[in-house]
Amino acid sequence: MHDTQLKELVGRTVLVTGGAGLIGSRIAACLRRAGARPISLCMLDAYPRHTYRDLFGVDPADPDVIVGDVRNPGLVKRAVAESDYVIHAAALADVAACTRKPLAAIHSNITGTQVLLDAVAACERIRRGLRLLGQRLRQWQPGGPGTPVRGVPDRAEAAGSRLRPRA
Ligand SMILES: NC(=O)c1ccc[n+]([C@@H]2O[C@H](COP(=O)([O-])OP(=O)(O)OC[C@H]3O[C@@H](n4cnc5c(N)ncnc54)[C@H](O)[C@@H]3O)[C@@H](O)[C@H]2O)c1
Repeated sequence: MHDTQLKELVGRTVLVTGGAGLIGSRIAACLRRAGARPISLCMLDAYPRHTYRDLFGVDPADPDVIVGDVRNPGLVKRAVAESDYVIHAAALADVAACTRKPLAAIHSNITGTQVLLDAVAACERIRRGLRLLGQRLRQWQPGGPGTPVRGVPDRAEAAGSRLRPRA
């Protein structure tokens, strides 16, 4: 990330869904180093609690760690309203588990993304969003150039004309 982009984060609040997980906890740590305030919204259900605590450095008693489900519209709406940016890393990320439990994967990975996008589309404060999707990153931002791409950004467009995917 360029210095100018990092400076943009100083003093900003960033909602990191799945922010206690493997990738999310690293992102939250980077954001803290950059001078931002990460808020983690995470179910903390992918690992034993000691893994979150000892390996990922997550304290569930931290007021900026919200233990909850990204499919909960009220909870997501409140967390989004407090935030300037959103990074969406909450997912059933284990591909084998997704294959074994396709409905659970749909509920977590698609319904959760839709709930988040709806909340972002309804919120004037959010400046930009980022979705971790397998090996890919997808960005969306209010009023940005509309580039039709596969996957989440299509749902971003469906969520409201305020959101435009960025390649
Ligand atoms: N791990 C990698 O090497 C890697 C590489 C590239 C992309 N990614 C992507 O990054 C994302 C996160 O992967 P990860 O490895 O950090 O997974 P992870 O399992 O370590 O963390 C995901 C976290 O999301 C939480 N979660 C799941 N469903 C939730 C829900 N409905 N509401 C709130 N929290 C929920 C889980 O409790 C877990 O703590 C995934 O989309 C994955 O595809 C991962």
